[in-house]
Amino acid sequence: MPGTCVVGLQWGDEAKGKIVDLLTRPGHIVVRYQGGANAGHTVVVQGQTYKLSLVPSGILRPGVECVITGGVVVDPGILLQEIRELQTRGVEVQGRLRVSDRAHVIFPWHVEEDRIFGQRASEEGEAIGTTLRGIGPCYRDKVGRYFAVRMGDLLRPGVEERILRIAEEKNRALQARDPSFQPLDGQAIAQQYRQWAEQLRPFVSDTTEFLLSALEQGRQVLFEGAQGSLLDVDHGTFPFVTSSNSSALGVCAGAGVPGKFITQIIGVAKAYTTRVGGGPFPTEQNNPIGEHLRERGREYGTVTRRPRRCGWFDAVAVRYAARVSGVDVLALTLLDVLSGLPEVKICTGYRIGGELTNSFPSHAEDLARAEPVYETLPGWQQPIDHIRQVEHLPREARAYVDRIGELIERPVEVISVGPDRSQTMFLHASQKQSA
Ligand code: GDP
Ligand code: IMO
Ligand code: MG
Repeated sequence: MPGTCVVGLQWGDEAKGKIVDLLTRPGHIVVRYQGGANAGHTVVVQGQTYKLSLVPSGILRPGVECVITGGVVVDPGILLQEIRELQTRGVEVQGRLRVSDRAHVIFPWHVEEDRIFGQRASEEGEAIGTTLRGIGPCYRDKVGRYFAVRMGDLLRPGVEERILRIAEEKNRALQARDPSFQPLDGQAIAQQYRQWAEQLRPFVSDTTEFLLSALEQGRQVLFEGAQGSLLDVDHGTFPFVTSSNSSALGVCAGAGVPGKFITQIIGVAKAYTTRVGGGPFPTEQNNPIGEHLRERGREYGTVTRRPRRCGWFDAVAVRYAARVSGVDVLALTLLDVLSGLPEVKICTGYRIGGELTNSFPSHAEDLARAEPVYETLPGWQQPIDHIRQVEHLPREARAYVDRIGELIERPVEVISVGPDRSQTMFLHASQKQSA
């Protein structure tokens, strides 16, 4: 059975893009099943860095087909820009990328709503700190249905009138919310989106049908998660989450693919923890340790350039994420960033209101009160980014990786020690052969 899912086990930016690129071979299909241009996936190929937002990371491997499914929310302007940038850099996209006609479309009012509601929320308490890409408002309109437009609608006659009607309603609502709001020009938006739709027409089709046929024929399909399992709208640290099912649970509904086709789930976790935006983060280090991680790991947001919050590896959170996402094996990334620390810590439990627990709380307020209980391991001083065989890692680094595998109760199959494809180690022969 042919489906593999690569999913983040923390709050995003676990280096999913690198792992997806690494596992992709000619003939494979790589699929984005949720999220949108809030994602920023970095792939480094022969010293060239590519930052992908909507286009699946498989695009950088010749002979691979890519799919943006109906579970994704698409900003057509951003998608076209990304396609053009790839083409300018010599990456063939036409004929290799399919965009679902079921995918919902992000409009300028969604971005405005993201900004205005976000501002209001931050005045009232801790802000979610979204990427301001209009993701949440677009998903809200999808579920609400009245103001929703899908990629397939954009290609049909009469859509301009519908966009105009929605723009009027949105302008009224946004002005009521924020009197300084400058109304959006519905006419101009309708024209612009029609133009973009024509440019995207060659890419748009029924991707559910395509994927079902591919899977029934036994083709290898790789589902590329965006964000991370702890940002999942249902199972993450609500309300400090994104608006889609960013755990592996999102694959079926997002891509239109029955669960029986998904036979392997690879959970990607950083060797420490980062988070962008608001929300509880028990192992956060607002101190020189956090600065070491941020500077050595170049922890600045791919999409927004915001400095990422940094802290120790949280085995309670990752174990929960691995269970929710049904993870079979782990890919541990950015291990090189820990070099030079005298000791390294792993959070193995939380103390909440005096009670010790190793289960992940369902309420963000309980997580915010959690005091991490740490296990301390010796660090290693030497750089490891040049190491290609696990046996050559410093003993302390090996012990750290082994302990993480034990605590998460899954084998670590992949270790990444740098952004480049070559800076990767596979721990078992089966992975080496399939990679
Ligand atoms: P994604 O959103 O999960 O694909 O991850 P991002 O691309 O947002 O962030 C991961 C960052 O770490 C990128 O800048 C990668 O180039 C970089 N990276 C990936 N793997 C490694 C690694 O093993 N070590 C180091 N130092 N950097 C890495
Ligand atoms: P990748 O795929 C890290 C975070 C935002 C914010 C919250 C909600 O690169 O791992 P949204 O714009 O989605 O409504 O923001 O989710 N967030 C991410 N953090 N990596 C991402 O994507 C993220 N996508 C959204 O910072 O806290
Ligand atoms: Mg990212």
